[in-house]
Amino acid sequence: MFKKTFQRYITMIEQFLTQLQWDKDILNQSMYYSLMGGGKRIRPVLALASAEAVGGNLEIILPAAVSLELIHTYSLIHDDLPAMDNDDYRRGRLSNHKVFGEAQAILAGDALLTYAFELLADSRLDQPARQLRIIHEVAVAAGKSGMVGGQVADVAGEGRALTLNEIEEIHKAKTGALLTVSARLGGILAGGTDEQVKGLTEYAQALGLAFQIKDDILDVVGDSETLGKPVGSDLRQGKSTYVSLLGLEGAGREMHAQILKAQSALKLFDEGAIFLSELANYIEQRQH
Ligand code: IPE
Ligand code: IPE
Ligand code: MG
Ligand code: MG
Ligand code: MG
Repeated sequence: MFKKTFQRYITMIEQFLTQLQWDKDILNQSMYYSLMGGGKRIRPVLALASAEAVGGNLEIILPAAVSLELIHTYSLIHDDLPAMDNDDYRRGRLSNHKVFGEAQAILAGDALLTYAFELLADSRLDQPARQLRIIHEVAVAAGKSGMVGGQVADVAGEGRALTLNEIEEIHKAKTGALLTVSARLGGILAGGTDEQVKGLTEYAQALGLAFQIKDDILDVVGDSETLGKPVGSDLRQGKSTYVSLLGLEGAGREMHAQILKAQSALKLFDEGAIFLSELANYIEQRQH
């Protein structure tokens, strides 16, 4: 059942991405190159599943859900640049800057970010108050107090031994913020109650931390072919991670604790959140 539901969400997301207007120029090509082929689509899936958990209409919120994938993809393009993690492979092929050059990669990222806000403002939603609230929340989560702020702290921490607390704060910002707003976007746009949105938020905060701990673990024990990106990137860049601080076993334990915390935040949904609960197991077990 989990796989079937996951596939149903993926099909919606992929179809929507494909049917957006993609011109033939180099900017469109480079945006499309990084967007298509290989991403797990966890953020839009989380948005759709959260909307479904509160009983909402998926078609109407689809543009907003997909906007999260555009923001995420922009963050990956910039994250791989020589000035940042300097990684040559992403999603199973050459990184954007290796194909299109650094200037174009920076601009493709910029354009994906702004395109995301075009989709967030999609007029079909017809719920101006909720929509405005979400546009604001996504901007905050993606920006200086969220993902970009986390990336800044991540780069600033290179070559230094950070404390567990510092690493946790970086993970929550660089990865957790966008995952958390993904669940909130689904819950809020689909008309969830305050209590439901609170449950989704607590779920996604723990899930987001677990997601990045797993990413750190895979950077050590993963297979680059399966991952579609290099392993050993964190070590090479001198990053402090859960693994460098706690070891593989300790990092695994911390991740598992966050998975359980995420699942326990779903109690109020009963049957309505089985998918979200299984999504947490999937994230713990994922190999890419
Ligand atoms: C990788 O994200 C970067 C992190 C925030 C950990 P994903 O693991 O979701 O990457 P894709 O989208 O599946 O390629
Ligand atoms: C990236 O974290 C988080 C982003 C906001 C892009 P990482 O640098 O660990 O992600 P990967 O391992 O390159 O995908
Ligand atoms: Mg990075
Ligand atoms: Mg990286
Ligand atoms: Mg990583």
